[in-house]
Amino acid sequence: MRYLMGIDVSTTGAKALLMDEAGRVLSSVSTPLSLSTPRPLWSEQDPHEWWAGTCASISAAIGQAGVNASDILAVGLTGQMHGLTLLDEAGRVLRPAILWNDQRTGKQCDEIRKRVGKSRLIAITGNDALAGFTAPKILWVRENEPAVYTQVRHILLPKDYVRYRLTGGFAIDKADAAGTLLLDLKTRQWSREVLEALDIPAEWLPEAFEGTEVTGRVTPEAAQAAGLLAGTPVVAGGGDQSAQAVGVGAIRPGIVALTLGTSGVVFVSTEQPFYEPEGRLHTFCHAVPGRWHLMGVMLSAAGSLRWFHDSVAPELDYDALLAPAAEIPAGCEGLCFLPYLTGERTPHPDPLARGAFVGLTIRHTLAHMTRAVLEGVAFGLRDSFELIRQVGAAQIQEVRVSGGGARSPLWRQILADVLGVELVTVNTTEGAAYGAALLAGVGAGVWPDVEAACAATITITGRTKANPDQHARYERSYQAYRQLYPALASWFHDSAIHAATEEAP
Ligand code: XUL
Repeated sequence: MRYLMGIDVSTTGAKALLMDEAGRVLSSVSTPLSLSTPRPLWSEQDPHEWWAGTCASISAAIGQAGVNASDILAVGLTGQMHGLTLLDEAGRVLRPAILWNDQRTGKQCDEIRKRVGKSRLIAITGNDALAGFTAPKILWVRENEPAVYTQVRHILLPKDYVRYRLTGGFAIDKADAAGTLLLDLKTRQWSREVLEALDIPAEWLPEAFEGTEVTGRVTPEAAQAAGLLAGTPVVAGGGDQSAQAVGVGAIRPGIVALTLGTSGVVFVSTEQPFYEPEGRLHTFCHAVPGRWHLMGVMLSAAGSLRWFHDSVAPELDYDALLAPAAEIPAGCEGLCFLPYLTGERTPHPDPLARGAFVGLTIRHTLAHMTRAVLEGVAFGLRDSFELIRQVGAAQIQEVRVSGGGARSPLWRQILADVLGVELVTVNTTEGAAYGAALLAGVGAGVWPDVEAACAATITITGRTKANPDQHARYERSYQAYRQLYPALASWFHDSAIHAATEEAP
């Protein structure tokens, strides 16, 4: 038997997964990573921790599975998207990486729209400038840390820093490349026009590969550090959302991947680079060669529930917190939760959007508040779902739900009822790391293409049907939810709140 490895450099952990050639998971180990928020709106990580965590997870995964490193055919990479990692001429890290959920670059987004023109930017890259993307972070460093900026010679995304440590080469997959806002979506190449307009040297960027291509081989030093065999091929893989979609088989138009992780994502594949004219949805290259995808991203999905649990009821386990919420009627007797705890992207690209409970009365209990969190996140996901439906890029045939939050039957039912669609679950529960291992398998020739890899390994295991009565009830609550952001936006943006948010600690 021979094996495939998927590595996921996520925000919370560096994970290594080993599967056999039939797609059975032999081991999966995650080493936790720390996150630093040195100022309001900031979110950073130390790239050295990614590498140390990845090495620890690889060794442990190989040890637990009891396989020989020489039997690993290929390694595929995935990870948190958009994070800016800056290296000098010698490949040294210049500052902590600025992550996908960092919100400091509102001003630089305006600057990008001004320099390129908003509609031209969307026409080339498929996307509007959003604070989480990579390009505005580059401008922020240039403006605020000129001493760092003058030393920059290489720009990498998180998993591609790990790739650099594994192979010594500078490479990226096209899905993550599209999330920088510097890629021409149609040609799947770096955009000279955008790079010139933003005055970013093209030679700082890594070479962009399709998701199944081999980008390099494990060096002897990396082999020693991680317990791999020198010379093992390292396949491009994909940003976490496209690898997650591969991992649940959402690789052709019509199959939606709905992910209820820290962030919440509604993702659909397209045969063409299809985009929403206002740039409210993201359009990126898929990890599947020659395909694209549209997605809506909410920044705090299961992250909202984690926040609620940790700050309001840390003494309860999740089952004990959620069970009483199942007894509360749909709509929470008028209580509504806005999930914009870390600002928002879809459908309100607003770093200063904020969370809220609206409609509290003396009748409301912890159980109402818990259910309101689950419903608020479901309403946020419905916003993305509606936008995808409106764009008309794909006829939605099936919605595959995954991610930590989707393990709750109550949350799955609320989601099905709010969306008014049946949700299906699949046998693969390791998400993006699983997808990265499948992409590695295609790169190593185990399967001829991604379709074949998914067909050989992924099956449907469960269905959650929408209840028409509950759907009708939620329709009213959803319309009420939709009125809240417009009503509160000016309060969120009020200069006093803004000043407090920007204040140094
Ligand atoms: C996608 C995005 C998030 C991160 C989370 O655009 O920003 O899903 O990749 O890891």
